[in-house]
Amino acid sequence: MEDKEKKVGIVANIQKQFQKRERKKTNYISAHDSAKISRENRKITNIIERKRKRRFVPESEYLTTMHDEKNVVEFDNVHTYFFTDIGTVKAVDGVTFEVPFGKTVGVVGESGCGKSVTSLSLMQLVQRPQGQTVEGEIRFNSGDKAYNIVNAPASVMQMLRGNEMSMIFQEPMTSLNPVFRIGAQVDEVLFLHNKGMSKKDVKEKTISLLELVGIANSVGVYKMYPHELSGGMRQRVMIAIALACDPKLIIADEPTTALDVTIQAQILDILSDIKTKINSSIMLITHDLGVIAEMADYVVVMYAGRIVEKGTAQDIFNRPSHPYTIGLMKSKPVVGKDIERLYNIPGNVPNPINMPNYCYFKDRCEMSIDACNGAYPPFLKLSETHYVACYRYENTKEEGARNE
Ligand SMILES: Nc1ncnc2c1ncn2[C@@H]1O[C@H](COP(=O)(O)OP(=O)(O)OP(=O)(O)O)[C@@H](O)[C@H]1O
Ligand code: SF4
Ligand SMILES: [Mg+2]
Repeated sequence: MEDKEKKVGIVANIQKQFQKRERKKTNYISAHDSAKISRENRKITNIIERKRKRRFVPESEYLTTMHDEKNVVEFDNVHTYFFTDIGTVKAVDGVTFEVPFGKTVGVVGESGCGKSVTSLSLMQLVQRPQGQTVEGEIRFNSGDKAYNIVNAPASVMQMLRGNEMSMIFQEPMTSLNPVFRIGAQVDEVLFLHNKGMSKKDVKEKTISLLELVGIANSVGVYKMYPHELSGGMRQRVMIAIALACDPKLIIADEPTTALDVTIQAQILDILSDIKTKINSSIMLITHDLGVIAEMADYVVVMYAGRIVEKGTAQDIFNRPSHPYTIGLMKSKPVVGKDIERLYNIPGNVPNPINMPNYCYFKDRCEMSIDACNGAYPPFLKLSETHYVACYRYENTKEEGARNE
């Protein structure tokens, strides 16, 4: 109860900051204002950090129950903010979706919409102290227990990261340590999570992992340094590290962005192969709709820190409903279709520090109607699996189907 009150206090504080700026009707921040914001931020983040750094956190604070046992992860109204000196960046602002066991969920949206911050919140790797998940629950199902990641202490996260969930990061070039050999970097993960394993067994497992991700000369690569590998090989090593402990969930954040098209296809093949081999779920983050179409069972479309549409891959590709999703679909080339110029969505994403109090997409929307002048649109249910946050569907929604 006390916790809830504190959180409400934190959110109220953030709203006060916004209202003050709104009253001044200016985007200019003087050094004096910036210092003041910084002081206020420190007050907020200190409260959260003090709570996080307690030596003993009772299990009751971070153990929870899944809403559906078939899900490996449930994001429930997650808010992750960055308390910066120029204001609060609402990077993730009320995100709700699930990742079912054995399925691939694609998270799509343009640059800066909060895809990476959503996944980093799940791994509790958001840059602290300025980055904090201030509201909501992220439930992770480890089989025998369900954890609320938002409240989980560092010791629990150390056990979950690598063992139960792992991440292939957006920048393969910078994620490997340049001064250690490839073998040592994969071995380290295995040692850390399998204390009883002998050195010989660890080395064998590392080499078999390198083979699993399609590295032909696995024994040779074991002894090499990252700079001796190509970009594609480094990305494969990253995948090998992510798979080292057979995690239940693999988060792949733009795993193919830095690679050429042929290597991209190979990496995606490896990912789907592995998913069936170790029966993992994949949360696949990308801005490439082609990759989503090929890999995902479910799709979540994000815009400016919020989900604007979600559904099965068929829902999204056969019946894209949110004007933003429709725009994304129109802006991808289609084989066999002659188009002089590809569509581009006009305008830019709103400033994340100063979000409007109406639909975030309105200023770019070519399909807006009168109702769009109201508050941010609610999430409407189009079918059992398909949801959209847009006023255009208010009258087409199923009876009593308003959700969240
Ligand atoms: N450490 C940070 N400090 C302040 N703001 C941050 C920080 N990290 C991310 N942000 C902000 O959070 C928002 C979401 O960023 P995020 O990295 O999640 O975008 P993304 O959807 O992954 O984009 P991309 O497709 O380019 O990777 C952006 O507005 C970004 O500026
Ligand atoms: S609510 Fe209105 S402005 Fe927003 S996306 Fe839908 S039609 Fe466009
Ligand atoms: Mg990103």
